[in-house]
Amino acid sequence: MSAVLEVENMVKVFRARGREVRAVDDVSFTVREGRTFGLVGESGSGKSTVARCALRLIEPTSGVSRVSGEDLGALGRRQLREKRRAFGMVFQNPVAALNPRMSIRDSISEPLRTHTRMSAKELDARVLELLDEVGLSRSHATRLPHQLSGGQCQRVGIARALSTRPKLLVLDEPTSALDVSVQAQVLNLLQQLRDEHQLSYLLISHDLDVVRYMSEDAGVMRRGQLVEVGPASEVLVAPREEYTKQLLASMPQPPGAVA
Ligand SMILES: Nc1ncnc2c1ncn2[C@@H]1O[C@H](COP(=O)(O)OP(=O)(O)O)[C@@H](O)[C@H]1O
Ligand SMILES: [Mg+2]
Repeated sequence: MSAVLEVENMVKVFRARGREVRAVDDVSFTVREGRTFGLVGESGSGKSTVARCALRLIEPTSGVSRVSGEDLGALGRRQLREKRRAFGMVFQNPVAALNPRMSIRDSISEPLRTHTRMSAKELDARVLELLDEVGLSRSHATRLPHQLSGGQCQRVGIARALSTRPKLLVLDEPTSALDVSVQAQVLNLLQQLRDEHQLSYLLISHDLDVVRYMSEDAGVMRRGQLVEVGPASEVLVAPREEYTKQLLASMPQPPGAVA
């Protein structure tokens, strides 16, 4: 099976007020085509930073990332911008991620307006198609973010991320800010979209149950390092590393339950 995203020896050192923070410390993993790689770890362990470095949203200190075999570090600014169509991002706080004054239609079509020369008519048609795909009604197109629930806003975020038909989605705590009752609905939608469109996911979560429910492959981060990586059925069920065992033991839910 081919790799959609390969991350090799990624390092990110932040320098703030004379202090150095090694947020990502030599991290390597692969997101396979049509599969979900779940990255789990406590808050502050470096999950978001490694994802941002992998997609070159921030410049890594060192390390390599390849999307469908292409080294992103070797691309110039314009090529990288063009390449951004191949991946989408979904963030933790769905309401804050949307421009409060922009209609849902405009939010969803913004990446298309940036990356393509689609006509207004084509954009409208694509927005309606995307609303259908994420389970929102067409009447949502003219609304503003504050008129939608958190779960609906996250569906808009997913529609926006899918607009350019990427192969890879990075989902950074996509359900952490949602009510428990809504989390499973959004996770199920993501599963369904992945299978329909042969997408690959890099799923970031501090919630082991979410990662276990969604992922074929998993990695556990601690203080910038990937302490364990492998099939989710091994890493998150019968881990070899002491830290992962502790993390599992600290979770109150039985295996397989979704928070
Ligand atoms: N822009 C930044 N400047 C300085 N330090 C940062 C910056 N972004 C993240 N960090 C630090 O890097 C570490 C990892 O953060 P982050 O990747 O956000 O962790 P996680 O997503 O696992 O919660 C933390 O110690 C955080 O404070
Ligand atoms: Mg984070």
